[in-house]
Amino acid sequence: MNALIEQIARKQHVASVVDLGAGQGYLSRALAYQHRLKVLAVDSSEVQTCGAKKFNAKAMKGGKAFDLHHVTDTIGPENASNILSRWSTHSDEHWLLCGLHACGDLSSLMLQLFAESEEMVALVSVGCCYHFLTEEGEHNGFPMSRALKSTDYRLGSTARMLACQAPSRWLDKKDDSLKAYEHHFFRALLQLIMVEKELAKASAAPVIGRLNKKKDFTSFPVYVKAALARLNIPEDSITQEEASRYYQEYKEKQVDKQMAIFWTIRALLAPVLESIVLMDRWLYLKESLNPLQSATKGVWMWPLFDPIISPRNMVIVATK
Ligand SMILES: C[S@@+](CC[C@H](N)C(=O)[O-])C[C@H]1O[C@@H](n2cnc3c(N)ncnc32)[C@H](O)[C@@H]1O
Repeated sequence: MNALIEQIARKQHVASVVDLGAGQGYLSRALAYQHRLKVLAVDSSEVQTCGAKKFNAKAMKGGKAFDLHHVTDTIGPENASNILSRWSTHSDEHWLLCGLHACGDLSSLMLQLFAESEEMVALVSVGCCYHFLTEEGEHNGFPMSRALKSTDYRLGSTARMLACQAPSRWLDKKDDSLKAYEHHFFRALLQLIMVEKELAKASAAPVIGRLNKKKDFTSFPVYVKAALARLNIPEDSITQEEASRYYQEYKEKQVDKQMAIFWTIRALLAPVLESIVLMDRWLYLKESLNPLQSATKGVWMWPLFDPIISPRNMVIVATK
């Protein structure tokens, strides 16, 4: 990604980059150190900024000085537009705006900042964490384009979660995938028992939270015991014998296999749902750049990384 950014920066005659959601600064450092670009790296987490500064200090021991500034700042709709005046000294500079795996609304905000700011002349964005996208309110992260807004289109939280799935990784992580199927079966079977015993409602899955993947999933009765403890429900509400009986019964009915088929079909929708989010972003940029009279304007989108290594691999590039 750093090589791509460097190429676009040179083409657009830009020497300064804002990296939003810079984290520990891996991309920022590569841009500043390898490509000699001036970089303003912004992250909302002080821990990340401090970590990044430590890495920078180590890299500096090599001798070369580089133009890289890490700042802690939470970017939101209320302050995104004046980010340059808050942190940079020259107001007449042109900038490239980039973000690698900028979560949820941060990627949407980045696109909006690019579209609305005169100083931002290039954009390189790889998003992630679509489940954090807001779909309601004045400053929603999705949809962004007029094309989708005009249809009142909404994904909803389930589809946003699904858009983050990475079915392309299943073959590579076969054992983990098979375990995940079993965990889905355990969860569903527990809810069924709880509904039958009037400990839960069919319409609201019990919120169990994280269990220990190694210890709490060794068998269904073990899982039931751990889950009941997390839910603060007396252990004897579902006895170990009952749990075993239910498990045998539903295994014999092959419900676990039916669920595996259901989850597979469901997760295979992930790329379709992700495409909707990405196409909306692409359309938004197209719409925003439309009125511009410029020979260099354009919006592109393509897979930049190997999806097995990095499932959120689609990059959106735009220039003015
Ligand atoms: C998935 S990490 C990516 C970090 C880095 N770009 C990388 O690829 O290694 C997303 C980062 O965005 C930061 N972040 C999330 N929302 C933010 C916001 N509204 N303003 C600034 N930073 C934000 C988080 O603290 C986190 O470090």
